Amino acid sequence: MVDSSLVMPGPNLLAEKRTRMCGEFQKAHEGDEVIVMGWVQSYRDLGGAVFLDIRDRTGLVQVVFDESSHQTAHAIADRVRAEWVVGIKGKVRSRGTNTNPNLPTGEVEILAQYIQVFNPAKTPPFAIEDGVDTAEEKRLEYRYLDLRRPEVQKNFIVRSKINQIVRNNLTSQGFLELETPFMVKYTPGGARNFLVPSRLNPGQFYALAESPQLYKQLFMISGMDRYFQIVKCFRDEDLRQDRQPEFTQIDLEMSFAEMEDIHRVMENVMRSIFREVLSTELPERFPVMSYDEAMTRFGSDKPDLRFGLEHTVLTELIRSHDGGGVPLFREVVASGGMVKAMRIPGRHNLSRTETDKLELEAKGVGAQGLGRAKVAEDGAWTQSPFAKVITEELRLAINQAVGAEPNDLILFQFGAPKLVHTVMSHLRLLLGRKLELIAKNEWKILWVVDFPLFEHDERTGRYVAAHHPFTSPRPEDVEKLTSDPKSVKARAYDLVLNGNEIAGGSIRIHDADVQAKAFEALGISEEERKAKFGFLLEALQYGAPPHAGIAAGMDRIAMLLSGAQSLRDVIPFPKTQRGTDLLTSAPTTVDAAQLQELCIKTTV
Ligand code: AMO
Repeated sequence: MVDSSLVMPGPNLLAEKRTRMCGEFQKAHEGDEVIVMGWVQSYRDLGGAVFLDIRDRTGLVQVVFDESSHQTAHAIADRVRAEWVVGIKGKVRSRGTNTNPNLPTGEVEILAQYIQVFNPAKTPPFAIEDGVDTAEEKRLEYRYLDLRRPEVQKNFIVRSKINQIVRNNLTSQGFLELETPFMVKYTPGGARNFLVPSRLNPGQFYALAESPQLYKQLFMISGMDRYFQIVKCFRDEDLRQDRQPEFTQIDLEMSFAEMEDIHRVMENVMRSIFREVLSTELPERFPVMSYDEAMTRFGSDKPDLRFGLEHTVLTELIRSHDGGGVPLFREVVASGGMVKAMRIPGRHNLSRTETDKLELEAKGVGAQGLGRAKVAEDGAWTQSPFAKVITEELRLAINQAVGAEPNDLILFQFGAPKLVHTVMSHLRLLLGRKLELIAKNEWKILWVVDFPLFEHDERTGRYVAAHHPFTSPRPEDVEKLTSDPKSVKARAYDLVLNGNEIAGGSIRIHDADVQAKAFEALGISEEERKAKFGFLLEALQYGAPPHAGIAAGMDRIAMLLSGAQSLRDVIPFPKTQRGTDLLTSAPTTVDAAQLQELCIKTTV
């Protein structure tokens, strides 16, 4: 209850209704009788007049309480403090010579006649304003207050817009918005699942869906033709800046579609998002790069094309020079390893200390060291462990291959290809940022295609599906499914924006024979197939149309478009790196009685 001494005789403003949002006031509204509602941003008493800035989602407006003309309203306003919730009735007037050019509503103010205090507020634990340096933990604990801050709200306004654009766009492209269950069958093998115990079936569990993948394929078999959903997905993964345990996908699937069709649909969606949110035109068609090319040139399947520092693979060159006098080169190449180089142009003037720091960074991601060579005027190498032993022929050939000029620095990495790519990609991104090679507001979007269908799992020695086991191999590779699985390419595609994977999808297998071969290559027995995916395999035999689909990471798109640094900035109630919700303190233990009812015993 609001203290009776704060109640001014007069109308109930809730019944009279708000006439305008705070951030909308302009010169054209001068003279209007208005009602605004919101939170008190700031309070100033200038003797004879109290000034309150009132805030709502749209912005701030200044309200003046004049003691001489509106004594009661002034007396109440005098006691109001930050974050109180109030309604005000008054008249818009010009601020005359006191306009505030920093405030969109700064040309006018409201002269208050009446104030209704809806609710006083405790002093908040941090100021509700942009640029506060409060620890993130505190902000997440009081997330509802953090969400009041304009710079945080801005991200959610962007996100809301994206939701609407996607719905309108896909609906206009003939897609039906359909829902799929969250509580689904547990199928080990993909992302780690969250489990939900079934009270009605003691000892049994549902999994929370890691994606609607199997259901959307079932929709195609059902004849839904084109499906989409903006849907929550759940994955019990180790969390990073770009990963949350529950996240949102823009998920779609299309019948009678080829890769080109999915690309066009998604390009259309992305173009409309960029146009409406950022007033930026993306190209009509997005460039396409093969996985092999992306790995060769950038060491990553999600290359950031906003800057250069491309890699050069030297393996074959070194092989043709039989190691060129460098024992390490020779050994690496002979044992199936890879040698890569990256040229840092001399104008960046990387010092020795800075290069040493790079070596530490490389070691941080698993490298043994970082080879280097500074190129002299005559093409000789200095500051390099290879300088003394390398043959002139190989040195000149490497200089030419990487396009080295005097004063350039060449960095080398050699060993197992996977590690070489990881280290060199890490260094490239690091240098791109450090040397400020990335322009602001630049957008580079591309498709990466022709991924390997399988990945080799070193732990188990088995092949695993790189995407998921229903991804179609390229038709020309079907024969190699069992004879040479590692060389089989998938009809899978990722969409990459500024070095972030924002979507991934594939053409699905709709042919039972090809599906059987794929399972064989994965070492999945008949029994295991039936137990895990029996329902889909059965469904595929009742007239499955050729189909394909894709899912985009809504959170990642919202993060990139709103310029946020972390997914947590675009998810209203996110989890921390440890998977906790600091606002509600989830997860928690539960009552012994509830565990008993679910037939669950904990071991901690
Ligand atoms: P995939 O696993 O590649 O594909 O996911 C699609 C997109 O979702 C986003 N994403 C995430 N975003 C935030 N937090 C996470 N933990 C997270 N994991 C993934 C990424 C990614 O590109 N069923 C397939 C899609 C298909 O084949 O149609 C799938 O889920 O932006």
